[in-house]
Amino acid sequence: MRALVTGGAGFLGSGLVESLVREGYEVVVMDTCWRGRKENLRSVADKISFIEADACMPSSYDRIERPSTIDVVFHLCAINGTKWFHEEARMVMDVNVNSTLRSIEFAEENNCRYVFTSSPEAFGESDRMPLGDVEPSVFSAPSQHQRHAYGASKYLGELAVHHAVRNGLDARIVRPFNGYGPRLLGDAYGQVVNMMMKSALEDGVVLVHGDGSQTRCLTHVDDLVRGIHAAGRVNGLSGCTVNLGSVDEISMLALAQRIEALVKQETGKSARIQFTEANLGDSKRRLPHLLNAQQLLGWNADIPLDDGLLQTLRSML
Ligand SMILES: NC(=O)c1ccc[n+]([C@@H]2O[C@H](COP(=O)([O-])OP(=O)(O)OC[C@H]3O[C@@H](n4cnc5c(N)ncnc54)[C@H](O)[C@@H]3O)[C@@H](O)[C@H]2O)c1
Repeated sequence: MRALVTGGAGFLGSGLVESLVREGYEVVVMDTCWRGRKENLRSVADKISFIEADACMPSSYDRIERPSTIDVVFHLCAINGTKWFHEEARMVMDVNVNSTLRSIEFAEENNCRYVFTSSPEAFGESDRMPLGDVEPSVFSAPSQHQRHAYGASKYLGELAVHHAVRNGLDARIVRPFNGYGPRLLGDAYGQVVNMMMKSALEDGVVLVHGDGSQTRCLTHVDDLVRGIHAAGRVNGLSGCTVNLGSVDEISMLALAQRIEALVKQETGKSARIQFTEANLGDSKRRLPHLLNAQQLLGWNADIPLDDGLLQTLRSML
């Protein structure tokens, strides 16, 4: 089996590539290394083809050898990281929409299966939880803030996938819920768990946006990779959408307190919780409905949060 993984040098992509290689796939990675890193793929470097190229450009796909032998495209390339959504909204829209359209076209031309990595952010500020498959999206007025550049681009990506399915492509959608684990960026453009850990370790501060009552279902990278891999393996899923997320909700204040305690336990360092302004457009709650994940993939999130947090913190020491 041959797979193309766009965004394969990133947080989820590199784990997926390792998983595919373990299962005997021949893997082609396409990544600009804009946010991903080649060193994430160190363990499989001699077993994969790496194309450092922009997945928005049709010419990038011309660099794939024997394209008609690619069986499955996993499309993970995107601009991710909340700060980017506000600061570089047009870049987010450009990359997320155009890379999705170009990779769908490649899959159509070469008769590949296609797996699109969407996001619960495709539903914006919807408060209908748990999030099922046919929920309406709720986006605030574009004049208020730029946050939904990302979520709306994922919404358009899902539309494009369903259009391609109607035209005969075997395409599926997965929606990871708040991934965390080793390799997730913890800088200002990163994501919550690793950001809290990095600032606790380096600055002695854990920042909580707003009052910290907003909840998330944090899902370990290994669970997410297992689900994305399975979504590309299982037959008969064309047009299906699968949420991949833990169902254990935790408030961001409770997360900050756990990280504060964990940092103390592992390093002896004290960190204090500091409240900062809320992220505009942040949803209060994000909880997945797992019916499809369980019935179609036999998938549940297995890794307990405390185990995953400890492993993640130790990877940063
Ligand atoms: N991590 C999560 O919790 C989460 C949640 C929901 C959805 N997702 C989606 O899953 C996918 C992977 O997310 P991630 O957390 O691994 O993000 P990531 O930023 O680590 O990975 C994205 C990769 O895409 C690459 N990239 C960016 N622009 C590119 C371009 N024009 N051409 C080729 N490559 C380009 C980056 O360099 C990076 O390696 C994304 O589509 C993201 O939107 C992630």
